[in-house]
Amino acid sequence: MRHPGFLLCGVALASSLASSGGQSAVTGDMQSEASINRSVDSILARLTLEQKVGQLAQYSGGWTDSMTGPGQRRPDLIDRIRAGTVGSIFNATGAQLIRQLQEIAVTQSPTKIPLLIGLDVIHGFRTTFPVPLAEASSWDPDAVYRSARVAATEAAASGIHWTFAPMVDIARDPRWGRIVEGSGEDPYLGAAMASARVRGFQTADLASPFTIMACPKHFAAYGGAEGGRDYNTVDITERTLREVYLPPFKAAVDAGAGTTMCSFNEIGGIPSTANRQLLTDILRTEWGFRGFVVSDWGSIGELQQHGIAGTLADAARLSITAGTDMDMESDAYWRHLADLVKAGTVPESVIDEAVRRVLRVKYRLGLFDNPYRWTDADIEKAMLLHPDHLAIARDMARKSIVLLKNENQLLPLRKDLPLLAVIGPLAADNDSPLGPWAAHGRADEVVTLLDGITEAVARTTRVGYARGCSIDTSGTEGFAAALGLARRADAVILALGEGRDMSGEASCRSSLDLPGSQQALLEAVVQTGKPVVLVLMNGRPLSIAWAAGHVPAIVEGWYLGTQTGNALADVIFGDYNPSGRLPVSVPRTVGQVPVYYNHKNTGRPGDTANNYTSKYLDLPLTPLYPFGFGLSYTTFAYDDLRLSAATISTTDSVHVTVRVRNAGKRAGEEVVQLYIRDDVASVTRPVMELKGFRKIPLTPGQSREVDFVITPDHLAFYDQTMQYRVEPGTFTIMVGPHSAQVQSRILTVR
Ligand code: BGC
Repeated sequence: MRHPGFLLCGVALASSLASSGGQSAVTGDMQSEASINRSVDSILARLTLEQKVGQLAQYSGGWTDSMTGPGQRRPDLIDRIRAGTVGSIFNATGAQLIRQLQEIAVTQSPTKIPLLIGLDVIHGFRTTFPVPLAEASSWDPDAVYRSARVAATEAAASGIHWTFAPMVDIARDPRWGRIVEGSGEDPYLGAAMASARVRGFQTADLASPFTIMACPKHFAAYGGAEGGRDYNTVDITERTLREVYLPPFKAAVDAGAGTTMCSFNEIGGIPSTANRQLLTDILRTEWGFRGFVVSDWGSIGELQQHGIAGTLADAARLSITAGTDMDMESDAYWRHLADLVKAGTVPESVIDEAVRRVLRVKYRLGLFDNPYRWTDADIEKAMLLHPDHLAIARDMARKSIVLLKNENQLLPLRKDLPLLAVIGPLAADNDSPLGPWAAHGRADEVVTLLDGITEAVARTTRVGYARGCSIDTSGTEGFAAALGLARRADAVILALGEGRDMSGEASCRSSLDLPGSQQALLEAVVQTGKPVVLVLMNGRPLSIAWAAGHVPAIVEGWYLGTQTGNALADVIFGDYNPSGRLPVSVPRTVGQVPVYYNHKNTGRPGDTANNYTSKYLDLPLTPLYPFGFGLSYTTFAYDDLRLSAATISTTDSVHVTVRVRNAGKRAGEEVVQLYIRDDVASVTRPVMELKGFRKIPLTPGQSREVDFVITPDHLAFYDQTMQYRVEPGTFTIMVGPHSAQVQSRILTVR
């Protein structure tokens, strides 16, 4: 007989996967807000100052395979939990362990307040999903919602209450290793993904089964690090902050995110952890955020290295008064806040407010009703790697693949070629496809590319494998065997890219080239004259200009998680028609960075025929592959682009419609993209900005009218006085398959 809890999970999962959870994720909680506040106040009234401060202290348990930052588990952690002076721990998972820890907190400690258990659940838990950059390539928020739902289900079954995700940092610099954790370069797409993930993790009610609380991070502009070097200085204008970096955070807050994590970086001289304008004025006063802010790992203590705090006590004072409520791993709050209050340096009311925020969240999660939520080892076992989860992961993975090139329709390959060569250091690698931050993903559960291909081909087909070279060393000893295999084969699938630890936190690169001797292997394999399909596995856009010029088919696979090989085989053999589109521009070389589609025009827009214009002497103006680009096995034709009105007022909306037809022979999905440009405004505007997209399935010959509504919000921007408003004038409205191929109409706003 199946465990009753299992049935509950099945029902919960099925119902929560059925829809994307509606627009508002906060309704359910709102009704009980007044009663939660009353309960929180009554708890607060009985806590000592030390116990209050304890609620603001968070420590890494270090019970997971790897710590996610520097440092060790505190030897006194269990004693501190027993004393009721720890609010939250992370890097501790497993139904049994969490139950034990929680038991200590609620039965042995004087406060009886349950612990809040966090973890970086970034792209799946045990069933590993594609890395976020890959999922963003799906341009499919519903699919991304389902992915987050599965991650939440497995994590919750393992005792987790809270994920430090989604990472919603906009990244325009692929040298920055954490580009892999976000949704790319665009604020609009980033906002759609942020919202989908928050709703997927939390559902409409945090207390319902198999939810985990979200924590959009890193607030803010962490991706703007100079030189693409992690933790580095960010120096941007308020306009860029508001227009580029903040929209995904706003979307996450609007979707009901229970917490936010501030970032390591400074912006214009003020580290985020101590930035009152960000954490209080914008986040709380402007946006109405009601949750709490957690610091990043040790970022309170790092205010000393930044040079704005002389002591750890100073750092604690600056952070708590700016609006950072919980201290992750600096131990600054625990060591100093009570003394600061006693000395009259920090008002106790500031501590009280932070504690209220933390306790409110614990209430919203239902922890006071049931501190042991889902800590049942049988349910955990049934949920991890559940077949439904694997099926959803496979679907997400194939939706995340971007077909970059397909000369002479080399793809899809036939399944019955006599000999197929699978070559490359990533072809049989079962670890790299997990990507960075893979929670409890296990290499031995990954379907490698080689596995997936072998499984998919006809029984008569032989699949040969040669590694060729390693990922990042210069040796060529393996070339001979690989080339010998390629020469005998009818087609070659060549898997190249980066190792798992070459992107992610603290994993920045100054080069975007294929590492080690992979480029040499690529050239040698192409030289055999055999048809080559290049499959990339990587955590950032790579500068693959040579490949783009010489390899007939290129598949961008990013890191696709547990179902990597199955998803790639689905695309390579045509069981799935690729529908992914780039969420980020692919530079020709690292020297072109930053290159992004929504740039300004400048006074001298680049013009290769004209010397004194904004360009490089040795590079074309455009990226190698533009934002929004991706091929399909069919083609789509656009016509009949219309506006419902040629002229509107500043408060009106207008419909934009376009007819899209599947002009090829296969069913496929097109991502119809809407961009706008404000032609003349009181401040310079980007040459184009994404303001809508729709992913539509079309059978061969089928056509559909796609309708977008442009509202004043889409046309508005921050004027010279930073007022968000629509200015009269003309707007170019553009629709097309990607940012470098659009049709346009002019809209006049009076
Ligand atoms: C990272 C965060 C992460 C935290 C906890 C930090 O080093 O910047 O993104 O959530 O560690 O693991």
